[in-house]
Amino acid sequence: MIAFPEKEEPMHIDRRAFLATLGSAAVVEAMSSEARADALEHYMIAQLDKPAGPPAQPLVVRRGAGALFGGPSPSGQRPELTALATMPERPTLVDFIRFRGTPSIGNHILQSANDALKKGEPEETVLACLLHDFVLNLMKTDHGWWGAQMMEPYVSEKVSWAIRHHQALRFYPDPSVGYEYPELYVRIFGKDYVPAPYIKSSYESARKHKWYMEARMITVHDLYAFEPGMKVTIDPFMDIIGRHFKQPKEGLGFDDSPVAHMWRTLNYPDNPL
Ligand SMILES: [Fe+2]
Ligand SMILES: [Fe+2]
Repeated sequence: MIAFPEKEEPMHIDRRAFLATLGSAAVVEAMSSEARADALEHYMIAQLDKPAGPPAQPLVVRRGAGALFGGPSPSGQRPELTALATMPERPTLVDFIRFRGTPSIGNHILQSANDALKKGEPEETVLACLLHDFVLNLMKTDHGWWGAQMMEPYVSEKVSWAIRHHQALRFYPDPSVGYEYPELYVRIFGKDYVPAPYIKSSYESARKHKWYMEARMITVHDLYAFEPGMKVTIDPFMDIIGRHFKQPKEGLGFDDSPVAHMWRTLNYPDNPL
């Protein structure tokens, strides 16, 4: 059984500051609840590196674009697009995390995996936490589904299933593991917040599934993975990756798998066609 700290609070969010980053009241009103929820998660991840952002700028990139492609934070602030390191000929998962992940997303997934490791979770749960939001570098919209698909050929079915369903589960409480409906969501979205029907249906099928708890634990450790100033390296996870991530010998992107193009897209984000 895993013990959860009782007093630890998730990161404090300034509701007004967050809402202000979304734009005018009309813009906020027009957003679907799911879009607002995603904006909140991205906002929290962005806060890991940038405690205070400048005023919103007009959007020139769609909000759902991945961070590596300049997908903006909820404040409309686009990440700085710096020169990228050349990837090795046969890139590994660790190469992608190191050289094709933005620092704030990297920090969040490492903190999440670190929390799972520290609390004695099984290795596959630690891996699921480590991978759960990596795809935000590529695509933000429906990131649970994208993320699961991207990892599917290389991890156990259980791990990709967990990644897929964490997106829906974050909106639903489970007191048995100390996961309450985030107070934060009540404050930000109001009491009448209703997740989109496809999210509800994903939750309902997950709730009855034998691997439910695998996805649930991603949402639990996620709560403790927004600690500003905390840095975790990839080193403690190298052995777990070695044991549970089936690294293709040709390199990710070159193994002819059904998702190889997703990895190549991250490898070559400047290719025009
Ligand atoms: Fe997520
Ligand atoms: Fe997350």
